[in-house]
Amino acid sequence: MNKVLDVKSVSKRFGGVQALDDVSIHLNEGEVLALAGDNGAGKSTLIKVVSGVYHPDDGNIIFNNENIQLDNPRFAREKGIETIYQDLALADNLNVGANIFLGREPMTTKFGVPIINREFMLSESKKVLKNLEINIPESSLEEPVGKLSGGQRQAVAIGRALYWNAKLLIMDEPTAALGVPEQRNVMDLIKKLKEQKVSIIFISHNLTDIFQASDRIVVLRRGIKAGERIISETNSDEVVKLMVQG
Ligand SMILES: Nc1ncnc2c1ncn2[C@@H]1O[C@H](COP(=O)(O)OP(=O)(O)OP(=O)(O)O)[C@@H](O)[C@H]1O
Ligand SMILES: [Mg+2]
Repeated sequence: MNKVLDVKSVSKRFGGVQALDDVSIHLNEGEVLALAGDNGAGKSTLIKVVSGVYHPDDGNIIFNNENIQLDNPRFAREKGIETIYQDLALADNLNVGANIFLGREPMTTKFGVPIINREFMLSESKKVLKNLEINIPESSLEEPVGKLSGGQRQAVAIGRALYWNAKLLIMDEPTAALGVPEQRNVMDLIKKLKEQKVSIIFISHNLTDIFQASDRIVVLRRGIKAGERIISETNSDEVVKLMVQG
């Protein structure tokens, strides 16, 4: 199996807090890895190390067989690592197309003057949403995404990642702020991405989601890796034990 990501012995300290202590995880192509653990276990810190937000104190990250130094999120994105953070990173005041192309706006010229190609952004957005069977009415596409529902916003963020050819998509609690039907839609999107061979790491406190959508689970506890299991070979009792024992 093709190994996409290999995080080796990563440590990260914030002042007196050892947020990560010698943690290793790996991910194969098209695999969904769930990251679980109690509040403050180090989950967000771990994915921020992989997405270039934090530089680890120790350890290294191998992505597509290349040892990479991720100094910033833009570099990670260029490599094909897209992250959807816990505090969702959409610009509320911009429409769907402008969000999908945020920071990478296509240009055209009008009367010899360079301008942003809004028509292209709109037509590409429609394609992205159609490809993922995301249900957003056409009339809403030119409205600020702040007017969309939480689930639709999540879907736009996922669509953006896919549009930019994410090889690895990282999601920090993608369903935490959603209603039940929208949670299901996002979980369905994860399955579709997996079919398209995208590798996914998702953080969740919801064991039902984890057991439904992932192939493997890594449990963190106070900065250490408490355990790792193949989903089909474990159960929620065992996972909860890994989270709280110690
Ligand atoms: N930027 C920071 N500065 C200082 N301490 C931090 C910072 N980020 C995280 N920490 C600390 O590191 C530890 C791990 O935090 P992290 O956010 O990774 O936890 P988490 O597993 O994502 O928790 P949650 O489930 O609540 O989101 C916590 O003790 C937290 O207070
Ligand atoms: Mg977190």
